[in-house]
Amino acid sequence: MEFEVTPWEVKGVVDYDKLIKEFGTAPLTEELLEKTKELTKSELPLYFRRKFFFSHRDYDLVLKDYEEGRGFFLYTGRGPSGPMHIGHIVPFFATKWLQEKFGVNLYIQITDDEKFLFKPNLTFEDTKRWAYENILDIIAVGFDPDKTFIFQDSEFTKIYEMAIPIAKKVTYSMARAVFGFNEQSKIGMIFYPAIQAAPTFFEKRRSLIPAAIDQDPYWRIQRDFAESLGYYKAAALHSKFVPGLISLGGKMSASKPETAIYLTDDPEEAGRKIWKYALTGGRATAKEQREKGGQPEKCVVFKWLEIFFEEDDKALLERYHACKNGELLCGECKRYLIGKVQNFLKEHQKKREEAKKLVEKFKYTGKLAREQWDKAIPE
Ligand code: TRP
Repeated sequence: MEFEVTPWEVKGVVDYDKLIKEFGTAPLTEELLEKTKELTKSELPLYFRRKFFFSHRDYDLVLKDYEEGRGFFLYTGRGPSGPMHIGHIVPFFATKWLQEKFGVNLYIQITDDEKFLFKPNLTFEDTKRWAYENILDIIAVGFDPDKTFIFQDSEFTKIYEMAIPIAKKVTYSMARAVFGFNEQSKIGMIFYPAIQAAPTFFEKRRSLIPAAIDQDPYWRIQRDFAESLGYYKAAALHSKFVPGLISLGGKMSASKPETAIYLTDDPEEAGRKIWKYALTGGRATAKEQREKGGQPEKCVVFKWLEIFFEEDDKALLERYHACKNGELLCGECKRYLIGKVQNFLKEHQKKREEAKKLVEKFKYTGKLAREQWDKAIPE
């Protein structure tokens, strides 16, 4: 089956090896992961160990910059078009790990402008309200408030000034080739890529962007002109997509509530959703499953454990074999995942409440936030 990945849509079952070739990125090799372990003096978290992050641009140069003392900074973002779900938050956990281990600054762009411009049914008020809600989920991940600046495009209007030199570099034909704009596209949409590229110039060092691979087209454009403006080409770490509950293909979609677990879902309700909708690799009857074994490679429950919810490699492998052997039935696995998801949600929601007191600091008063609000705009 054919698939398509753009910043607005993921269609079909994604072949990630093919995507690396199509996008012209590089696979995240064992060697780079080993080097990461060595430099951070840490065991890798499961998102890196299990290749949820699978591709990169210039991550080798980032590690070199770190090793040789030039340093780097992290940049990522979120388009506030609705409530955040599990699939949205996984890359933020990976980002937190990188910030903690490398001790670097992190800029998080909240694109209330983008989502207003691109989503026909959202008002500007809507995207601003979602910006606040999403920022709570992001803060709950536990970033360092003095090394993290969370900014909302409509408020941090310096971003516009920074986008101007970029907007002078990118032609309509380039943008159209990369993003598929047409005669009907609104002029705000055509300018927007300059806004998303601007944070890669916040510091005169290399930026490393951990994000799902659908954002890569922006970095491709940035890399075209960055050096001509005297900055570094953006480096990126690309993640796969977290599948929705009902199928392994594509990504968890916020617009299909039965496929997603939202970070604000009541844990009981989340449990019911998983029980009712989660696709497994089970056979038609328990008897058949005991004879033939289950199919973990076709199972969303197993995938979620692999991507995020089962930390323990040995336990995951044992579960895989027990399923294959027909010893483990799907109900037991679902119950196990439900327990994990509910614990995560309870913990997250507690931190999300506490985050309300930290919004000011991340957006306006923390050390990095102050530096950015006070900074003179470069010529
Ligand atoms: N365009 C992204 C979205 O729709 C938001 C975003 C802005 C972003 N800057 C980013 C995502 C940097 C990842 C990295 O969600």
